Amino acid sequence: MEPSPIIAPSILAADFAHLADEVHAVEAEADWVHVDVMDNHFVPNLTIGLPVVKSLRRVTTIPFDVHLMITDPDRWATGYAEAGAYNVTFHVEACENPVKLAKTLRAAGSKAGLAIDRDTPVEPYLELLPFVDVLLIMTIKAGFGGQAFIPEMMQKVRDVRRRATVKNLEVRIEVDGGVGADTIEQAAEAGADAFVAGTAVYGADDPAEAVRKLRALAQRTKVRA
Ligand code: DX5
Ligand code: ZN
Repeated sequence: MEPSPIIAPSILAADFAHLADEVHAVEAEADWVHVDVMDNHFVPNLTIGLPVVKSLRRVTTIPFDVHLMITDPDRWATGYAEAGAYNVTFHVEACENPVKLAKTLRAAGSKAGLAIDRDTPVEPYLELLPFVDVLLIMTIKAGFGGQAFIPEMMQKVRDVRRRATVKNLEVRIEVDGGVGADTIEQAAEAGADAFVAGTAVYGADDPAEAVRKLRALAQRTKVRA
């Protein structure tokens, strides 16, 4: 049986002055909350880091899906696992030895995720699938919310889904960027089973209802990888 879809609202699109309230607004409906950590170096944007994650961890029990868009994840990633993140995803473009870091993260108590940015091919990394829990395919260029979903990225999702099926791997295939009611079905059809949505959730009048709607769309879609 296919695992049920994960819907992960990204607080990048939330009101940073009221982050606890923004998380509370979706925690009953969402599976994970997606936390975008940007260092103004790996990407040309600066968001939040470990102190905010630690503070937020105390106000909710929803699992945190931390997406590190930072240089030198070997130095920083473990801190997020130790702070109670459910999953910590780092970028292949920033990491010399992804298998080693994935092992370190698991030893520190979190799941390990590997992210592939828009301009990075996925083929060289398919052999790493057995060593990670999440494979994040960027469906935009990492760095900013509110960008348009790039349908061409679905070939990467299909390639990962095919390999995961052939090798019988339990990896979650996550898509991030421009995911909303108009795009989630094509991602689900390609084989994604975890969906990050920033603008589509926090830009909606009712974020919880937006999550329910996304889940319904993902659930009714059959994989056609
Ligand atoms: C961008 C971030 C995304 C962002 C998605 O680099 O990784 O998680 O929040 O935002 P939307 O859903 O608005 O594209
Ligand atoms: Zn993200």
